[in-house]
Amino acid sequence: MEEISRTIHIRKLTEDELSSEERQLLNAARDATYRSYAPYSRFCVGAAVLLDNGEILSGNNQENCAFPSGLCAERTTLFYANSRHPDTPVTMLCIAARDSSGQFTSSPISPCGGCRQVMLETEHRFAKPIRILLYGTDGIYIVNSARDLLPVEFDSDSLV
Ligand code: THU
Repeated sequence: MEEISRTIHIRKLTEDELSSEERQLLNAARDATYRSYAPYSRFCVGAAVLLDNGEILSGNNQENCAFPSGLCAERTTLFYANSRHPDTPVTMLCIAARDSSGQFTSSPISPCGGCRQVMLETEHRFAKPIRILLYGTDGIYIVNSARDLLPVEFDSDSLV
């Protein structure tokens, strides 16, 4: 038997420890939760991306009464950014969420597997790692690449 290990790196920071660029992105992600369409789960997720050209774009989760037809905030935002700017790398992504009480979650929001896969595709597409900030009122988790969120990925080499 062979054992395969992977080490992932997560830093936990307070809001005060963020750079001004990171704080700006966090504010955009928090703002975006207020435009979320989540009548079924009442879990409002906001995402914001920083592009290599300095532009910030944001999005949120969009639900549907046919549940699987909805989409998470991360994918809504990444697809929007890539459709607007197909040649501009995404350098940073931040997500924040408010639960059914309307409060921001105390624990950092953790992206679903499908969104992690899309984050990795975006990294490969532009050959550039994306710094990811996961906001919680108790602290902010930061990883420097989506690889830290999905260390064993399905990649295009598997298609050959
Ligand atoms: N959701 C996101 O938008 N991002 C995540 O990382 C986790 C979950 C959404 C999907 C659904 O609209 C609601 O949160 C509850 O799962």
